[in-house]
Amino acid sequence: MNFGGTLRVNKFACFTLVFIVFLIIYWRSSGANYTTDKSDFVNLKSLLKAAIYAAERGGKKIIEGKNRELNVKSKGKTQEGANDPVTDADYSSHCAMYYSLKNTFPKLTVVSEEHTKSDSSCEHQELLDIDNAPPEHKQIDYLYDEQTLFKDVTVWIDPLDATQEYTEGLYQYVTTMVCVAIRGVPVIGVIHFPFPPRTYWGWMFRKTSTNIPSVPHKEENKDQPRVIVSRSHPGKVAEIAKEAFGSKTVVTPAAGAGYKVMAVVNGTYDVYLHATAIKKWDLCAGDAIIKAVNGKMTTAKGTLITYGPTEEVKVTDGLLVTLYDHDYYLSKEPKILSTMP
Ligand SMILES: *[C@@H]1O[C@H](CO)[C@@H](O)[C@H](O)[C@H]1NC(C)=O
Repeated sequence: MNFGGTLRVNKFACFTLVFIVFLIIYWRSSGANYTTDKSDFVNLKSLLKAAIYAAERGGKKIIEGKNRELNVKSKGKTQEGANDPVTDADYSSHCAMYYSLKNTFPKLTVVSEEHTKSDSSCEHQELLDIDNAPPEHKQIDYLYDEQTLFKDVTVWIDPLDATQEYTEGLYQYVTTMVCVAIRGVPVIGVIHFPFPPRTYWGWMFRKTSTNIPSVPHKEENKDQPRVIVSRSHPGKVAEIAKEAFGSKTVVTPAAGAGYKVMAVVNGTYDVYLHATAIKKWDLCAGDAIIKAVNGKMTTAKGTLITYGPTEEVKVTDGLLVTLYDHDYYLSKEPKILSTMP
């Protein structure tokens, strides 16, 4: 009889089956500790599109605001005694940018230079179109997707950079900025100029907007560097630059951190040097864009700046931004630190 033989085979099959089922249950339950809900992830490509649309919405508010009463108020004085103004345009741009991002991505952490005033219409902002990039940034739709946990992302926004110049009618310096930092590293930066409207973006290790030129390295620039510095907080930075980089150094004052970083990104200047305190929402987007074109932003001490959600927002060790030869310029300007307030 082969009845016993069959039974033996079935016993073995049963045991194997139970063992496999047990393995699957074990694997799934232990995996459950690590798996996160799909809604805990954000697609960085969608976030880039949202960042562009948000920055452009802010820009529209700034254009509208220019034809209304500005309602200039002072937020106090900076360390250097310069006025630190805020206008209604800062607030309406903040509302448009902050709440369009928050409404589109409720789990997103957003840090803004401005706060929401008690104004109920502020929070009612239309959702951003994260499916279709604007026509002039169509290339984004052809990039591959990348998912990141919301909890690792901090978005920094500056609803109106160069407010002082905005009140003076020096509109060319004005920008809106959005920056995506992942575990403190600035990875995506968007800088929008409303006058005339145009948007630049960079995504580290991936791509930049097509309106960013590729700038060749010129060794001879080190001998007569073109340096851009702040017009509203000049400090002694022009003097320091000449002393550090040589008498042929050409120093040009300009406003807006967004404007100055872009002037280095497009090769008009070799160095952006800053000697006084500066806030992280002024820096994050430019930091991401300069990284995307293989340039560098550090403090004057040479340390990288991090953009986590709970960090000190003020950078007090000065600032050095270059497209090329960062270490060379860094080695030349240790004096900047001794003159810092
Ligand atoms: C470079 O950037 C600066 C600042 O944004 C701008 O004023 C200038 O027109 C730009 N130059 C070129 C050639 O794009």
